[in-house]
Amino acid sequence: MGLFDKFTLCCVVIVIVSLSGMLIGYVQILHRLEDGINRDNSELLHKIGALRLGLELSSLQSESSLNNTSNGGVLLAMVIKSAKKNYALRRAIRHTWAQTDHRVVHRFELHGSNMHPPLLATVTNGTMDWLKRLQHHHRATTTNARYLLIVNETVFVNTPLLLETVERILPRQGFILCKPVKNASTQNVTCDAAQPILVSMDVVHGLTEQYVVHDGRRLYLNHRETEALVRHQMDDEGQLTYFFTASLLHFSLKIPITQKMEQLWLSLIGNYTPVEY
Ligand SMILES: *[C@@H]1O[C@H](CO)[C@@H](O)[C@H](O)[C@H]1NC(C)=O
Ligand SMILES: *[C@@H]1O[C@H](CO)[C@@H](O)[C@H](O)[C@H]1NC(C)=O
Ligand SMILES: *[C@@H]1O[C@H](CO)[C@@H](O)[C@H](O)[C@H]1NC(C)=O
Ligand SMILES: *[C@@H]1O[C@H](CO)[C@@H](O)[C@H](O)[C@H]1NC(C)=O
Ligand SMILES: *[C@@H]1O[C@H](CO)[C@@H](O)[C@H](O)[C@H]1NC(C)=O
Ligand SMILES: *[C@@H]1O[C@H](CO)[C@@H](O)[C@H](O)[C@H]1NC(C)=O
Repeated sequence: MGLFDKFTLCCVVIVIVSLSGMLIGYVQILHRLEDGINRDNSELLHKIGALRLGLELSSLQSESSLNNTSNGGVLLAMVIKSAKKNYALRRAIRHTWAQTDHRVVHRFELHGSNMHPPLLATVTNGTMDWLKRLQHHHRATTTNARYLLIVNETVFVNTPLLLETVERILPRQGFILCKPVKNASTQNVTCDAAQPILVSMDVVHGLTEQYVVHDGRRLYLNHRETEALVRHQMDDEGQLTYFFTASLLHFSLKIPITQKMEQLWLSLIGNYTPVEY
């Protein structure tokens, strides 16, 4: 073997070694990503659960209303913002995360093609313009569900976990969960209305001025985390504690978003094994 051949061989070996090193590192990062999400979210839910307990102890809640919702009542009403033309997507949603369940009701809110930019919701104090509009909009339409969820059709919702949490952990009243954004100029914190918003029904109905706005943090997966989930790079997708993915629109996926929703749903309810490709 000449000197040049040895050199080439050496280069090849170096490249192979560093590539496998990178691959191992990448896999480890993904493991940590998943663990991090689950740890952060269980801490967050723990805090919110303590809030519910505190509220129940400090206020004499009407027992009858508690009884009613716990036996067969509707827990969650979903308003899903959808573009008129997206028939297939609505069908996929009906068959997956908005699937008929006695604890869920859903309604599609259809929008034309010229969408207005999403409104930011100011949540500094009791009088929020956005909440007023939301109350005006949904007062008549909502059922006696405990919570209202407003969500865009391109997001995937982990309905089983969300329902369990509404049932057992979230305060029964006076609660908003959203993704806050800070207005750079006024420093006011606002709910990002482009992201899913979860509101307890008493707030929707304007029955209370006292409520807590909670930052959903990692219950809302970010773009990168959603991508890892969608590409089956998580170790155990079914065990990931999240409420909402980021919009599924923004991935250069070979398969349509409807199929993505079906795959995510099947992996969630546990009889789906990802196909290698
Ligand atoms: C609520 O349920 C508890 C236990 O099932 C019962 O003892 C109580 O009387 C009920 N309250 C009302 C107002 O129905
Ligand atoms: C509880 O449910 C019963 C029957 O469904 C209904 O008549 C009653 O008004 C409910 N009470 C409350 C406080 O929602
Ligand atoms: C849903 O979100 C996507 C991506 O952010 C956006 O393009 C679309 O306009 C939204 N649709 C509705 C009906 O709000
Ligand atoms: C918000 O409410 C708190 C107490 O209720 C009050 O001290 C504060 O000034 C209010 N902030 C604004 C911007 O209205
Ligand atoms: C910040 O608040 C100002 C005043 O209300 C508003 O005009 C502006 O659009 C807000 N900026 C953002 C990024 O929300
Ligand atoms: C932002 O907060 C200030 C006081 O902190 C308040 O006067 C103002 O109305 C708020 N702006 C918006 C758009 O809610």
